[in-house]
Amino acid sequence: MWCVHLIFLSAFFLVSMTSESFDAMEGDALVIKCPPPSSYVRVTWYHTETKKIIPAEEEGSRTFSLKRLLWFLPTSREDSGNYTCVVHYSNNITKEFNVSVQVHPYKQGICFPSQIRYPNDTGRGKIICPTFDNYKNATIVQWYKDCKPLQGERYFKRDKYIFINNPGKEDDGYYTCQFIYTHNGNAFNVSATRIFVSNAKYSLLPPQILFPKQNDVTEVDLGAALSLKCQARLGIKKQPIAVVTWDVNNSPVKKLDFSRFHEETLSFEGHDHEYYRETTLHITEIKKEDLQANFTCVAVNEMGNTKAKVTLQLKAQLDHPRVLMIIGFLVLLIIIAVSVVLYQSFRVDIVLLYREIFQPYSVKDDGKIYDAYVIYPKSHTSEANFVGYFVYHILPDVLENECGYKLCIYGRDICPGEDTASAIEKRIQKSRRLIIILTHQSINCEDLAYDQHIALYNALIQNDTKVILLEMEIIGTYEKLQESLRYIIKQQGTIKWKEPPTGHQQSSNSKFWKHVRYHMPLTHKTSYSANAG
Ligand SMILES: *[C@@H]1O[C@H](CO)[C@@H](O)[C@H](O)[C@H]1NC(C)=O
Ligand SMILES: *[C@@H]1O[C@H](CO)[C@@H](O)[C@H](O)[C@H]1NC(C)=O
Ligand SMILES: *[C@@H]1O[C@H](CO)[C@@H](O)[C@H](O)[C@H]1NC(C)=O
Ligand SMILES: *[C@@H]1O[C@H](CO)[C@@H](O)[C@H](O)[C@H]1NC(C)=O
Ligand SMILES: *[C@@H]1O[C@H](CO)[C@@H](O)[C@H](O)[C@H]1NC(C)=O
Ligand SMILES: *[C@@H]1O[C@H](CO)[C@@H](O)[C@H](O)[C@H]1NC(C)=O
Ligand SMILES: *[C@@H]1O[C@H](CO)[C@@H](O)[C@H](O)[C@H]1NC(C)=O
Repeated sequence: MWCVHLIFLSAFFLVSMTSESFDAMEGDALVIKCPPPSSYVRVTWYHTETKKIIPAEEEGSRTFSLKRLLWFLPTSREDSGNYTCVVHYSNNITKEFNVSVQVHPYKQGICFPSQIRYPNDTGRGKIICPTFDNYKNATIVQWYKDCKPLQGERYFKRDKYIFINNPGKEDDGYYTCQFIYTHNGNAFNVSATRIFVSNAKYSLLPPQILFPKQNDVTEVDLGAALSLKCQARLGIKKQPIAVVTWDVNNSPVKKLDFSRFHEETLSFEGHDHEYYRETTLHITEIKKEDLQANFTCVAVNEMGNTKAKVTLQLKAQLDHPRVLMIIGFLVLLIIIAVSVVLYQSFRVDIVLLYREIFQPYSVKDDGKIYDAYVIYPKSHTSEANFVGYFVYHILPDVLENECGYKLCIYGRDICPGEDTASAIEKRIQKSRRLIIILTHQSINCEDLAYDQHIALYNALIQNDTKVILLEMEIIGTYEKLQESLRYIIKQQGTIKWKEPPTGHQQSSNSKFWKHVRYHMPLTHKTSYSANAG
């Protein structure tokens, strides 16, 4: 049974034997490999015709053999011919293979042998440099198409391939790879040529990961689920090799036995038939160890692969409320600031409006009779005429008739004949406010002094009567005023009269009167709202 099997095997090898051919330029290096790839004990090489064994390398030898390889360093024209390699397997079985070598004389302007006997590459645009693997430590220096150096963006060079982007008929031709091979310090040229015939159903592009970006960091919560998406462009039209997958610490997700991870892939064509694949890595629950892990998306097509690494990072959970708190605090500050500014600007209107709306109907009886006692400089000069007009007409018009206040004005409510001192004192004590009219007269007029002294005494010492200062004329510097007046001015300022002095109707809604009303007490037994406006 065993013998029959062996005979069958031998017969099979004899029948299937085909002679391989190698072409080389004169003076280049040539390394040939005996075809069978499987395990063997020993290989011997000899000239087919002369049966002369080709020995192992000795110093200075040009042609020598080593295991499956036959070396010509460099080739010479007389190397053309047939060679046989004898492969010794275990169990005393040997097999022979014939190879044919053709060394072409170097000719100016010819970069490849006229006969090309490497198999054609067809279709997709990938052209492999023939025999390159036989040469250890070789470097491709140049690719040629029909003896012209290849250059342009359509050609992607990899170690032993080139790729033509979207190949068409015009790409058909002879492609030569030229490389340098170094042996024992000697450099040799090697070139190998094959034919490319386009037949493209699809074409390759270097794989490109659109997202994630390399070294992206994704924020996560422990225990939460996460989906990591990776999308890659792999070529034009559907690719025979198209892989987009996730590795966790360099192990493919499929090989991990954690049920926490699983992948989901879809593929689609974009514009110009660009072919994409998108793979989502679903993690059902983020664990602590994932924060140290590298999640790598790998995209692979015939041309090669590319990767993008993503790591995970905890969401800054502590900072979150802190940031919110700070923002809230800032907003609060801004609101307060705006309110303060608004209140400062509209304080008077707000207070007056408030009074108008929420005016308490029963104001507590404080035992006073007058809302304000009016102190003003008495004079007979023409300048003072307006002050007299103001005190006797305008002031009562607005505050009494319009606003419903009750004033006490010396000369109107106190007759000159009364016991002036005690009358004034009594009246001021029965008044809720002191209205002091300031003019230049206030500085000079002796006449005012008595009134003011009592009034200011009450206001400052007993402090139960508020003072309202009406500055009817621009006084400028207050230096010359009495010290007590200066003190009040410093405390609360004055209300400045800026209206045209005569002529038109006074309105309780002008700025001046609003300020005065603001400083006045609440109206008692009011008929104010009916009269206002
Ligand atoms: C090599 O072998 C082929 C047949 O396999 C033969 O036609 C050819 O003449 C041989 N070449 C030489 C140089 O003997
Ligand atoms: C192989 O052949 C040699 C002689 O040719 C013989 O001595 C040896 O026993 C053989 N080995 C086997 C495994 O058949
Ligand atoms: C190799 O070539 C020689 C001479 O042409 C021939 O006798 C022999 O059968 C060939 N061997 C194989 C395995 O083809
Ligand atoms: C290789 O391509 C050339 C040129 O197109 C063609 O003539 C030849 O028949 C092809 N060889 C094979 C084995 O396909
Ligand atoms: C390959 O190249 C490396 C350095 O580039 C050198 O160290 C090594 O000896 C070379 N191997 C051979 C077989 O020439
Ligand atoms: C290799 O070829 C280039 C031209 O293609 C030539 O200039 C150079 O001398 C050659 N090197 C060897 C070692 O033959
Ligand atoms: C993740 O990658 C970085 C460098 O890219 C490496 O230093 C680190 O050891 C890797 N971590 C793991 C867990 O593989």
